[in-house]
Amino acid sequence: MTALTLSTAAAPGLRVDAIVVGVAKGAEGPVVAPGAEAVDQAYDGRLAAVLETLGATGAEGEVTKLPAPSGFKAPLVVAVGLGAQPEKDAGYDAEALRRAAGCAARALAGSQKAAFALPLADAADAGAVAEGVLLGAYTFDAYKDRGEGAKKGKGNGKAPLGEAALLGGRPRDKAYKAALERAVAVCEELNRARDLVNTPPNDLNPEAFAAIAQAAAKEHGIKVQVLDEKALAKGGYGGILGVGSGSASAPRLVKLSYRNSKAKKHLAFVGKGITYDSGGISLKPAGHNETMKCDMSGAAAVFAAVVAAARLGLEVNVTGWLALAENMPSGSATRPGDVLRMYSGKTVEVLNTDAEGRLVLADALWAASQEKPDAIVDVATLTGAMVLALGSRTFGIMANDDAFRSAVFEAAQEVGEQAWPMPLPEHLRKGMDSPVADIANMGERMGGGLVAGLFLREFVGEGITWAHLDIAGPAFNEQGPFGYTPKGGTGSGVRTLVRLAELTAAGDLG
Ligand code: BES
Ligand code: MN
Ligand code: ZN
Repeated sequence: MTALTLSTAAAPGLRVDAIVVGVAKGAEGPVVAPGAEAVDQAYDGRLAAVLETLGATGAEGEVTKLPAPSGFKAPLVVAVGLGAQPEKDAGYDAEALRRAAGCAARALAGSQKAAFALPLADAADAGAVAEGVLLGAYTFDAYKDRGEGAKKGKGNGKAPLGEAALLGGRPRDKAYKAALERAVAVCEELNRARDLVNTPPNDLNPEAFAAIAQAAAKEHGIKVQVLDEKALAKGGYGGILGVGSGSASAPRLVKLSYRNSKAKKHLAFVGKGITYDSGGISLKPAGHNETMKCDMSGAAAVFAAVVAAARLGLEVNVTGWLALAENMPSGSATRPGDVLRMYSGKTVEVLNTDAEGRLVLADALWAASQEKPDAIVDVATLTGAMVLALGSRTFGIMANDDAFRSAVFEAAQEVGEQAWPMPLPEHLRKGMDSPVADIANMGERMGGGLVAGLFLREFVGEGITWAHLDIAGPAFNEQGPFGYTPKGGTGSGVRTLVRLAELTAAGDLG
C-alpha cells in the first residue's frame, strides 16, 4: 500500500514526481482550493487562469496535468477537481476530498512519490485525504504477468503510487496522527477485502477463505472458530449445508471474536460468503454468472471490519460470522422442492436454489443471536432487486428497529458510503407461506429485496436489534474506476461497519 506521511514542507523544494492541488468549480470558472497557495504564487497567481485555458472546470473526477512552475524541484502539477466550490466560510466536504485524492492517486499510478497540497481544515480532512489516497491507489495484479516487465512496474499495468506526503498535515499533532493511523488500519483491511472479492473462485473456496481468516485473526489477537462440514452437520446448520451440498468444496462457518476488556457493548456482524454463486440447480443464465465471485463480499466486509476494530483497539466487543459456501449444481445439490431444517429449528422449502444467500445467513443470524449481542448487522450481496431499486452505487438498509436503521444510515453517510433506508412491509411476508414448511425461500417477485429482508428477520433472536445491508449493487464495480473506487471489488460496507463499532464503543449508539 502507498506509504503516507504528514508534512509541513513547502511545495517548491520537494523532490517528488508530482504536486497535487485541488481545483473547485466556482461561479465564474475554476478556483484553486486552499493548500495550493505556494503553487499558485509560482504561477504568478495565474494557476486558475492556466487551468481554465487547459479546459479544466473543477468538476468532480477531473484530472489536469501541467508542467510545474520554474523554481520547483517537482516536474509535474496534477490539478484534481473537487466539484462545486463550498459556500463562503464552509469547508470542503470530507467525501469531496476523499474522492479527489482517490482520483489523483489513480492518475499517479507508476509514480514513486507525490505531495498532496489539498485543503486540510482539520485532522478529519487529513484522514479523508489519506483514505482517498490509500483506496484510490489500489490495484489487483496478483494474476498478472510476474515476469521481468512486471518487476519494473512496466508489465501489465503500472505499480500503485509509492509514497504520498500530505502537505499542511501536522506531524506532531495527536489528532492528525490518529486520523492517519485510523485511515491506514481501515484501508489496509478494506483493500484486503477487495483482494478477497477479486480473487477468482477457483482459488477462493470456503476452506481457503476460512484459512485466510484464521491466519489474520491469530495475527491480531482475535479468537477464531471454524466449523467444517462435520461440525455443521453435528450442529444442525441445515441452511449452510443445504447451499453447500452441490459443491466439491465443503462449506464453513467462521466465528471471529474480538474482545476488549473495557467494552460495555457487544456487536455482531454477519456476512454472506458465497464464494461462487452459479444459482445451483436453478442455474443462472449466461451473462449473470461472470461476476458471481463477488457473492462473498459481505463476508469479506465483516472480516475486514472485525480485524480493523481489533487493530484500532476499539472498546467494544465485536463478533464476526462468515457464512461460507459455494452454490453449485450437481447430483448432490439441493433441489427446488427440498425442505431444509435450519439451525434455528425452522423448516424452509427451497423453491429457488438461487435464493441461497438468505439460507446461509439464516443459520449465521441464529448462531449470532445465541450470544445475545446488543445488535446484529448483516451484510450481503443478496438480491438483484436491490440493484434495480437503488442502482450500482447505493446499498439498501433494512432493520427491525426504525431508530437503528436511521443510525446505520447516518453512520454510512458519515464515512462517505452511499446508502438508503428501505422498508420491511408486513404484507409481503405471506408470499413466503409454504404448504409444506414453516417458510419458503421465495415470495413475491415485486419488492424482492424487501422479501429477502423479511425472510432474514425470521432468524433473528427475539428482542435483538438487527439491520441488514443489501450491498448487491455497490459490492462489485463492473464499470470504470471513479473517485477512490476501483474496478472489481470495492470493499462496500467495511467503513460503515467500522463506524458502527466506533460509535458503539463511544456509547453513541443504542
Ligand atoms: N447473489 C445473488 C444476488 C446478486 C445479484 C448479487 C446481482 C450481485 C449482483 C443472489 O443470490 C440471487 O441470486 N438472488 C436472486 C433471488 C431470487 C431467486 C429470489 C435474485 O436476486 O434474482
Ligand atoms: Mn443466488
Ligand atoms: Zn447469491
